[in-house]
Amino acid sequence: MEYRIFASTDELALACADIFMELLKEKKNAVLGLATGASPVKTYQELIRRYEAGEISFADVTTFNLDEYCDLPKNDKNSYYTFMHENLFNHVDIKEENTHLMDGNAADAELEAAAFDALIEEAGGIDIQLLGVGRNGHIGFNEPADHFSDGSFKVKLKQSTIDANSIYFDENPMPRYALTMGIGTIMKAKKIVLIATGEKKAEAIRAAIKGEVTPRCPVSILQRHPDALLLLDKEAASLL
Ligand code: GLP
Repeated sequence: MEYRIFASTDELALACADIFMELLKEKKNAVLGLATGASPVKTYQELIRRYEAGEISFADVTTFNLDEYCDLPKNDKNSYYTFMHENLFNHVDIKEENTHLMDGNAADAELEAAAFDALIEEAGGIDIQLLGVGRNGHIGFNEPADHFSDGSFKVKLKQSTIDANSIYFDENPMPRYALTMGIGTIMKAKKIVLIATGEKKAEAIRAAIKGEVTPRCPVSILQRHPDALLLLDKEAASLL
């Protein structure tokens, strides 16, 4: 597992956009695994800027998102469906039918998750999976647990995640469940790029890089991935 430390989140976003751009130059029909949350926002802005400048195109790209809340209307302002459209999809030439998020309201969550994993396989697998990390070390919504998960599944969110994310939910209460790519799904990606910024992520990053590989800190599994890169700002890297 490699990591790079940046002086600013702007520089980090430029470097992350470069990684995506390099892939898209080589493979116009790349399969991207995407993340939500604050961490990737600047990278998405930079990708939109490069699209507007005519430097990249998403016309043949396929995307799969890491996770989605359960029991939240698809068009709710806090759904990850809305997030992805507002922060990336609405601003580039990606085809709606090539974007995939799990349906958090699916009647059969198990079936929905299994179908999602099958679709990823059918698409040829994920070329680059972008990740953020939770303060408790979660990736996607893979919360600290006794075992690493395999395929995508429905998860009960930990109180620490509810506390961290409930700031976004002013009207409706934050959902207690989500659908997430499993650790096994994430680990199948050919390349993984994780963004962590701010001191609140410092302990998770220390555990990810210096700690043992344990499902109590799910991000630590990246030590076992052959091509995982962590992009950090100085604050997130402050305990290394
Ligand atoms: C959220 C998401 C994750 C995200 C993480 C960090 O709960 N489920 O996919 O990477 O927590 O979020 P942020 O980037 O806002 O700190």
